[in-house]
Amino acid sequence: MPNEYAELSINGKTYKFPIMTGSEGENAIDISGLRKKTGMITIDPSFMNTGSCYSKITYIDGEKGILRYRGIPIEQIVEKLSFVETAYLLVHGTVPTHKQRKTYSRLLTENSLLHEDMRHFFDGFPRGAHPMSTMATMVNALSTFYPNVDSLSLKEDIDKTTTRLISIFRTIAAFAYKKSKGQPVVYPRHDLSYCANFLNMMFDSPVKPYEIDPEIVSMMNKLLILHADHEQNCSTTAVRVIGSAQVNLYATISAGINALSGPLHGGANQAVLDMLKKINRKKGGIQLYLDKAKDKNDPFRLMGFGHRLYKTFDPRAKIIKKDCRRILEKLGKKDPLLAIAMELEDRVLKDDYFISRGLYANVDFYSGIIYRAIGIPENMFTVMFALGRLPGWISQWQEMIRSDNRKIVRPRQLYIGEKLRDCPEPPELLDVSYNY
Ligand code: SDX
Repeated sequence: MPNEYAELSINGKTYKFPIMTGSEGENAIDISGLRKKTGMITIDPSFMNTGSCYSKITYIDGEKGILRYRGIPIEQIVEKLSFVETAYLLVHGTVPTHKQRKTYSRLLTENSLLHEDMRHFFDGFPRGAHPMSTMATMVNALSTFYPNVDSLSLKEDIDKTTTRLISIFRTIAAFAYKKSKGQPVVYPRHDLSYCANFLNMMFDSPVKPYEIDPEIVSMMNKLLILHADHEQNCSTTAVRVIGSAQVNLYATISAGINALSGPLHGGANQAVLDMLKKINRKKGGIQLYLDKAKDKNDPFRLMGFGHRLYKTFDPRAKIIKKDCRRILEKLGKKDPLLAIAMELEDRVLKDDYFISRGLYANVDFYSGIIYRAIGIPENMFTVMFALGRLPGWISQWQEMIRSDNRKIVRPRQLYIGEKLRDCPEPPELLDVSYNY
């Protein structure tokens, strides 16, 4: 129950609205009764100041660079848990016991095969199809092959479907990659862990067996964990909005994939590499792109920098940056783009335009460097983001369908168009053959 109220006075009348306080002391004014009491609504384009829900999943403090899943700091999760354990934590709310983890791993393995008839869908995509479009299409099509669940389904059906989706999403991603290379798909194996299986499906081949490197597997776990959830970001909001209409889970997640593909969101990791390569090709490239980013007449944004919430270092970027050098050294690879990225970040950190706006490197700035070192092609970077974010989307969707005040999401607007007027007479039809 609220212990404080906000007062709003309109035309000499005062209205009181409860101030709700979150677990970490953050405050929000509950305006759910505003229109009933005052006849007015609020306006907040892009919802910069609007909370859409109460959530117990992820906590972010953008001013302090804090990120926690179910109360546990991300820095501890990446050191102590695997991606599968993190997915369980997000979806079920607790770190799995040994028994729960064993069962979950078994179910993930048993549900990793894609229906053989769906495998042929890939033959219909052109070779150059972007894997994010393939993913969104294939995930949506799962609803035609597998039992659907929506906001009215039983918990056991939802658990079965979400576990299958977390597993089969990985298979579809690897199949999409293989198809884009014109190579035969590699099936999931029962004897490999989640990330090892993914890497094997991506890089194994009948003529050149893939040697699974435990360090790369561990890095893959870390990258997927860092992308697993991020409270009410654009794609998660899309999932909550679509899911609120009682749409089946597959179609709902397909909407999340599409939202994530935007270059201002998850598509940024691929856009960062494009930008770094352009900088690398130009003498004085760094200054040129810094100037472009600051030029108000230029729509260019410095990819991988800035964040709606973080006005200091994105904790995920800090973790990934540390691993960049280590992974490149481990693989004996030199990547000129890493040196450019680090110099670019250094310059940003000294530039008042960026400092005054709280623009720091975000999760997308360094992740592509590591994906590249592992051999993941650039057009698969955002698919990797989606693979990591899937448990987050599922947990947020579940929280939405189980919340007490579950309603279809339908914001209001302020109409600023034409006032009432009659329909003008349409122009006389001069030529009756005109197909109007
Ligand atoms: C993700 O929400 C999430 O949690 C997302 C995410 C997740 O895990 O789900 O964290 C993943 O999407 C990370 C962000 C990846 N996108 C990029 O790296 C693209 C580049 N970044 C920008 O497009 C931008 O910073 C956003 C989209 C990330 C955030 O935009 P906002 O919050 O709408 O900020 P804004 O546009 O209001 O910018 C405030 C000011 C503006 O300048 P002024 O009008 O005050 O003069 O900062 C400027 C902007 O022009 N600005 C930038 C900039 N980002 C903001 N200027 C140059 N380069 C940039 N990258």
